[in-house]
Amino acid sequence: MSNLTATQQQAWQALSQHYEAFQATKLSELFAQDSQRFAKYSFEAAGWLLDYSKNHVSTETIKALVNLAEACELPAAIKAMTNGVAINNTEQRAVGHMALRIPRAQNGGEAQQFIVNGEDQMPLVHAVLGQCSRFANAVRSGQWLGYTGQAITDVVNIGIGGSDLGPQMATIALREYWQKGLQLHFVSNVDGHDISETLERLNPATTLFVIASKTFTTQETMANAHAARRWFLAGFENNTQSSSQNIAIGKHFVAVSTNAQAVQAFGIDAANMFGFWDWVGGRYSMWSAIGMPMMLAIGPERFAQFLSGAHAMDEHFKAAPLQRNMPVLLALLEVWYRNFYKTNSRCIAPYHHRLRRLPAYLQQLDMESLGKSVDREGQPLTRSSGTVIWGEPGTNGQHAYFQLLHQGTDVIPVDFILVAQPDHSIPDQQRMLLANGLAQSRALMVGRNLADSGSSHKTFIGNRPSNTLVTQHLTPESLGALIAMYEHKVFVCSVIWNINAFDQWGVELGKVLAKGTEQLLMPDGQPSEAAIASTDSSTLGLANYLRAKSH
Ligand code: F6P
Repeated sequence: MSNLTATQQQAWQALSQHYEAFQATKLSELFAQDSQRFAKYSFEAAGWLLDYSKNHVSTETIKALVNLAEACELPAAIKAMTNGVAINNTEQRAVGHMALRIPRAQNGGEAQQFIVNGEDQMPLVHAVLGQCSRFANAVRSGQWLGYTGQAITDVVNIGIGGSDLGPQMATIALREYWQKGLQLHFVSNVDGHDISETLERLNPATTLFVIASKTFTTQETMANAHAARRWFLAGFENNTQSSSQNIAIGKHFVAVSTNAQAVQAFGIDAANMFGFWDWVGGRYSMWSAIGMPMMLAIGPERFAQFLSGAHAMDEHFKAAPLQRNMPVLLALLEVWYRNFYKTNSRCIAPYHHRLRRLPAYLQQLDMESLGKSVDREGQPLTRSSGTVIWGEPGTNGQHAYFQLLHQGTDVIPVDFILVAQPDHSIPDQQRMLLANGLAQSRALMVGRNLADSGSSHKTFIGNRPSNTLVTQHLTPESLGALIAMYEHKVFVCSVIWNINAFDQWGVELGKVLAKGTEQLLMPDGQPSEAAIASTDSSTLGLANYLRAKSH
């Protein structure tokens, strides 16, 4: 890594030496040496237990990793984020997702502040939360009526990336708390199948669209929003001659955005826009008005519980010593594997059907934040950063890719996520589910040797690391705490790797090229000379083939 201070160099060097001495030690040996290993390498925070005992770590490892975190001035970096410093240095923006979870001051107590450019943002945050709550309550209570005077039965969130993955994942996770009679749908893909399949099941008179886009310029979201409006107006015109189109749109389209001008240009009234701020990153925005679909599904009180679960994790993150700090430890383990064991992927295995979108959500959070090759100063990184994140809920993954986790040539650390109490009443199946989760992490660790298996094909090397996270029940609080934990884990990795975790310049080029490439796919005639000249023979050949096959 470039521009390392002498202390940082020493910390990396100490870790290298420790790695050389320690790497041959097997996980099973560590357990055999210490009957208290679980007690030593597990602890609780904000309603979650982390067991990190099945990792390649000793007391010395943790000490050396914490030294690295200190050498990278992690405590100061946490303070800078908390205090509204513009730590997103390529966009000159503060990073305030923690502020979105700060509760209102209670019983005359002092309110926490979040100061950006000299101004406390908390009154704005709480004002928008209030506006969202009033709106959500009106829809949920049946007070908010569509153009025929019927209550809303279906809400379609149209957004992509951070304006889709977070709210979608969390809304699905909290299915237990949904308002009866209100269905939530999520449309994100520019692929017209996504919106068509959603709309064919819906009635325009009882459907509400939430157009969620921080910029309100994202191609996919705008295309889907316009398709939704066309579909809505076609239904409206068939049904009524009375009220005006604009009034009808006002009852069925609301927006969540930072771009008031573009929202109004689309035809959505300012009163029906829920704002947020440039200091809220897209993939960190589900705590803001972007959480509107959640609020509609589970109600404002439960949304407040979701925020308070995250706030509890924030407080832990800010106050706990580094060696007993859940997000910090998870991040240090990631660095340990990525930079010393040279792993390049992590499997997320939530053993809860309702956490099925968690891996997809974490892909954006982690990979869009840490997929960088230059440091904060723009210098090339000299160590690997970023990890491929993937996974499926247990037990489905066991019957698909777990083969590779157990017997493949690469080591892939796993996060097992277990929930003690289910929301269903089939206790046998809950026991089976949990037993499978526990058995997989144990199998990865202990493996099976040739003597026991009798064949190299049936031998498992074992010695494969995993974390296990456990909570009592999947509630708004515990979900909030889990997500905040992963957000902070990503932040800590970025501090160690000296990366800006809050920009995403890498997604821009593809967006620009896609616009030009559309020219090559126009149905009538040949593309212009300029369009042809601006591409390559492969892209042109493929575009010609697609055009020929499109009718
Ligand atoms: O393309 C990446 C991205 O910019 C994400 O960072 C963001 O979450 C997503 O697009 C959607 O952006 P918007 O909310 O502005 O539509």
